[in-house]
Amino acid sequence: MGEFLWGVASSSYQIEGDRASRAEANWDKFAERKGAIFAGHDALFASHHVARLEEDLDLLAALGVSAYRFSFSWPRLGARVDDPRGVSFYERLVDGLLARGIEPVATLFHWDAPVELERLGGFLSPESPAWFASYAERVARRFGDRIRRFLTINEPHAYIEGGLRDGRHAPGHRLPLSQVLLAAHNTLKAHGLAVQVLRAHVSQSWVSAAPVLLAATPASPSPEDVEAAYRFTFSLPTDRLRVSAFWLDPLYGRGYPDEVWTRFGSLMPKVSPEEVDLISQPLDAVGVNLYDAVRVRAGAEGAAEIVPFGVGSPRTSFDWPVTPEAHYFGPKFLHQRYGLPVIITENGLSASDWIALDGRVHDADRVDFLERHLQELERAQAEGVPILGYFHWTFLDNFEWNHGYKHRFGLVYVDFGTGARTPKDSFFAYRDRIRAERSK
Ligand code: FCB
Repeated sequence: MGEFLWGVASSSYQIEGDRASRAEANWDKFAERKGAIFAGHDALFASHHVARLEEDLDLLAALGVSAYRFSFSWPRLGARVDDPRGVSFYERLVDGLLARGIEPVATLFHWDAPVELERLGGFLSPESPAWFASYAERVARRFGDRIRRFLTINEPHAYIEGGLRDGRHAPGHRLPLSQVLLAAHNTLKAHGLAVQVLRAHVSQSWVSAAPVLLAATPASPSPEDVEAAYRFTFSLPTDRLRVSAFWLDPLYGRGYPDEVWTRFGSLMPKVSPEEVDLISQPLDAVGVNLYDAVRVRAGAEGAAEIVPFGVGSPRTSFDWPVTPEAHYFGPKFLHQRYGLPVIITENGLSASDWIALDGRVHDADRVDFLERHLQELERAQAEGVPILGYFHWTFLDNFEWNHGYKHRFGLVYVDFGTGARTPKDSFFAYRDRIRAERSK
């Protein structure tokens, strides 16, 4: 697969721990709320990643990935000025990756925001795009000589809708929809400014984002069903923001889809043509987190109808349907709509993993899941869809947001008490797959 990026992904808040040496984060505050996080868990230690950095770098090298997606923690780097402790941690991380021949792919924002800025309104503030741009500039100046691939924002729908509308993510608000849409728009503007900053300060910069792709797949191979699946993938079937086109269309030069205006009308903030241009800075690929899909068929007059999965069809421990064909149709549809190469910035599953009597973790479901998804990506590639890389979610078992430590998504099992690591069977399966591909 040539230059294909064989990767694994993580995010700062979910793995780092070491709460003592960084500023307070939105999720620290949120975790203090009674009932906010499963079983009252918090991320004070998370996966003990800061404490075990060298060991983790060696594990990444043993896995044989060519790229590692991690995120900078804005609170660790400092809300407005650099915190030397944070800078030195990320220098050790990035230098450690480079020394092992692993390319860093850095996310600027994976939901952990400094409380200092949340108090001033976070992404509700008209100043938030400028705050984000100056944070991006600090990252670019410090690390732009060693990192060229950046992802600006991760799944903004989850942060914005989960945090400001549903109250199930930090900061835990339940705001009117007009406020939620304003924060969404500010987030997209923040992305646009950050891209400009990265382009200005990073030579040979490669920039994308990591929104979710909620793909639809066709119930049959008929052209009508495929067309219905394409249209459903980019539609807004409800007023929920966990839809792809709300984010992807403005990012990739199409502006907000018409359905945004018909559905939300005057609840949307004023959007000027200059803002539309700002948001749609040229990007190098369409990055998406791709977990699962809905199945649709063409109903009356071609309108898409959801076809329920059969009784007993496979589901992950999170109860998400297992839909590998999303990795064939999703990239195809993205390439068709936006004309750019595609990169899978996250894909994975939570499973019920434990250490067996023989001391190993036999996650046969993850081994199978991984292989099925890679095969579907290869099917799309074989038909000419340019796919740049695949990042499995995730490297280490970690703090799964409001679900605390209930869900294990890692290739590496973590004992959350001691931090001890045990690579799972899937770690070795992925390692062998990568080894075989990279030696071709
Ligand atoms: C994605 C998030 C990631 C993790 C996985 C399971 O939505 O980006 O942090 O929570 O889901």
